[in-house]
Amino acid sequence: MLGATISDNEFDRLRRFFEGASGIKLADSKKVLVCGRLSKRLRHWGLQTYREYIDFIEAKGHEDERQTAVDLLTTNETHFFREPKHFDFLREELARMQRTGLKGSLRLWSAASSTGEEAYSLAMTLAETLGDRPWQIFASDLSTKVLDDARRAIYPAVRADEVPRPLAVKYLLEGFDEYEGYYRVEPGLRKRVSFAQVNLMEPLPAMEPFDMIFLRNVLIYFDNAGKKKIVESLVRRLKPGGLLFIGHSETLGGITDVVKPVVPTIYRLP
Ligand SMILES: C[S@@+](CC[C@H](N)C(=O)[O-])C[C@H]1O[C@@H](n2cnc3c(N)ncnc32)[C@H](O)[C@@H]1O
Repeated sequence: MLGATISDNEFDRLRRFFEGASGIKLADSKKVLVCGRLSKRLRHWGLQTYREYIDFIEAKGHEDERQTAVDLLTTNETHFFREPKHFDFLREELARMQRTGLKGSLRLWSAASSTGEEAYSLAMTLAETLGDRPWQIFASDLSTKVLDDARRAIYPAVRADEVPRPLAVKYLLEGFDEYEGYYRVEPGLRKRVSFAQVNLMEPLPAMEPFDMIFLRNVLIYFDNAGKKKIVESLVRRLKPGGLLFIGHSETLGGITDVVKPVVPTIYRLP
């Protein structure tokens, strides 16, 4: 059976819906991708056209399906220890902080955490470097689907292979029976990472300031106005001297000068 095609008008309505929900403007070139991701929802609800689906998600009482559509339209690609230079920098920074005197609990925020690999990679790095010192990681995303996966912390072997062997041995538990071929982050590490839904385009919830915020590979989806709004709001949640990490293909050039580059893609709040 061939799936429904999407008209320009239907795509515009979906685009407005997704921009309202996430702040992300879908380019015309994303039409095929959008159909590919949402067609199963039309089938699920027995709907024939995208117009019917948009009417459905816009109707009162259909918040769950609206969230499902948002989950499907976000791009959640991530890896353990993605962009390893950031983790090298983090280790050096932690060593420097320990030398100069670390006070209180160290707080990190993985601000577009996707399925949790970034947050758990940070947790492994902190656990290895800081020993018994107190630290905590807060991780958030717009998609509730990825947050559920992140809390479950069960990953197929191919993902677990991205974790350096000595850390994998220590922090990943091998599954058996129906979990054969999967690994789960061990409970001690899991309990130091908390996950919650946060829409970076909306006013942020009350939270204590962070020593470091990881805002990696998400700004790329926003136009300059969106990038500016997100960065300026997050920077207000950094402690003075705190660090902001963005993805290797991203830059804050022309977006803000409130934080100053330390090395490319890592910025410090003076
Ligand atoms: C490509 S992933 C990046 C994951 C991870 N930070 C990394 O670098 O591997 C981008 C994530 O941003 C999330 N996202 C998109 N728009 C968002 C918004 N307005 N607020 C919060 N998260 C958002 C998506 O759901 C997705 O999981």
